[in-house]
Amino acid sequence: MDKRVVIANDHGAVELKNRIARHLTELGYSVDDLGITKNETADYPDQAVKAGKAFLKGDYEFGIVCCGTGVGITMAANKIKGIRCALPQNNFAASMAKEHNNANFLAFGGRIDYSDPVEGMLDAFINSSFNNENRHSRRVDKIMNIEK
Ligand code: RB5
Repeated sequence: MDKRVVIANDHGAVELKNRIARHLTELGYSVDDLGITKNETADYPDQAVKAGKAFLKGDYEFGIVCCGTGVGITMAANKIKGIRCALPQNNFAASMAKEHNNANFLAFGGRIDYSDPVEGMLDAFINSSFNNENRHSRRVDKIMNIEK
């Protein structure tokens, strides 16, 4: 079966979104791009909701949201029940976002100069697995219980 990813962005991250989509396509993912293109504008909360709702309905491995800093769209994505959106700073955080937090969304900022390229952070996330030891699942369960 296809490995699928959903992605959305605002006007602060059009180029970055294209880079990410290109990289994931090269890795064999089918990418559903719900974001905007050059010369359009969008409010990042709307873009987060679009990607989050699609993720919850569809059969996606994970989702990605991008805005200028990644901050606003992370805040919005994490308001959607079932979404655990991480905003990694570097490869280590990207890998921990999967290993410890079992994130199902990643966020990035198109106006941020990252010390590690975003493509490498994606690889770090994809190539990590959730460490299902009791303490990690207990903590992730505690995050999800906040929604109730
Ligand atoms: C939009 O100009 C900008 O505020 C947005 O992309 C993002 O950085 C918000 O967190």
